[in-house]
Amino acid sequence: MLKVGRLINDAPLRWSAAYKEFYRAVVELRLYDEFWQKNVPIPTPRREGTGVRVLSIGSGSGEVDSAILRKIMQNQSSVNLYSRVVEPSAERLRDFKDLVQQDTSLSTVKFDWRQQTVEEYFSESDGAKFDLAHAIQVLYHVQDHHATLRNMWEQLADGGYLFALLLSGMLTKTNHQHTRIFADKIGQGELQHEMWKWFPHENDRDRLQTSHITSGDVTRSLESMGISYVIAEVDVDINIAECYKEDSETGRLLLDFLTQTSNVHAHPKMRSAVLEYCLRNSSMVDDKVLFKARNAAITARKNTKK
Ligand SMILES: C[S@@+](CC[C@H](N)C(=O)[O-])C[C@H]1O[C@@H](n2cnc3c(N)ncnc32)[C@H](O)[C@@H]1O
Repeated sequence: MLKVGRLINDAPLRWSAAYKEFYRAVVELRLYDEFWQKNVPIPTPRREGTGVRVLSIGSGSGEVDSAILRKIMQNQSSVNLYSRVVEPSAERLRDFKDLVQQDTSLSTVKFDWRQQTVEEYFSESDGAKFDLAHAIQVLYHVQDHHATLRNMWEQLADGGYLFALLLSGMLTKTNHQHTRIFADKIGQGELQHEMWKWFPHENDRDRLQTSHITSGDVTRSLESMGISYVIAEVDVDINIAECYKEDSETGRLLLDFLTQTSNVHAHPKMRSAVLEYCLRNSSMVDDKVLFKARNAAITARKNTKK
């Protein structure tokens, strides 16, 4: 039976292969990199002589993490930097450690490696506090995004920042200042929400129990906890032309990643619904079919001393 939105749980190896194909299909990765670099908050030491502490949830192989750490050091060259890394995949954690070994600019960072899921990590708190807690492209995979955000918030020191980056979707206008919302509904996040309308009874799981979590779920969680945030969005084009080639394994993997669903090609009804939706919401440029992955960066600052 087709389990919508459970690719990483149902077929972790296929998810890894699909993830690689997805990144290959991004047309201008530079736009995405510039976006998160512009939006990630850069903490400074709370008091003179103290360091900066970063909590990373789901670091992957550490490319984004290490760029964030370098940014913090660029801002404050002699800062004492501590980075606690929570990542369940042994392979990705090993790649991250290799990256750190090779990058001399990170030699002064004190790393604290935790090969754990976020659920395991938060079940045994040591009371540590952080100046930045980030979850970048990760909240889709945690068991409970609301609990994860609440726990991250609890581990923030006064003045610390929470930063979440994920696909955009289901945003509603809010009263929060500086909120910038695109009015139209397009792209990968909205495709995933549409899938729940097309196949409401495909499995018994609630959408929030799958990887189909988008920015609207995060902002709703923050609002329910009375946390103010700012949000920014960017559109990144994905060339999905391969998905329309019947026998292309690249296309099949890409389709699985877009839907976070395993082996969509084996389910003709879903495959054609997804391909039609994508085509309706894509632009054609030369031989490319450009579909949008809209991403949202959400930042909240903890300030208990008002
Ligand atoms: C899409 S990658 C994002 C990696 C990195 N943050 C980035 O932006 O490049 C998602 C990561 O979340 C990790 N992950 C999956 N389930 C998790 C969980 N329950 N707790 C923490 N991390 C998890 C995966 O192993 C993977 O490395």
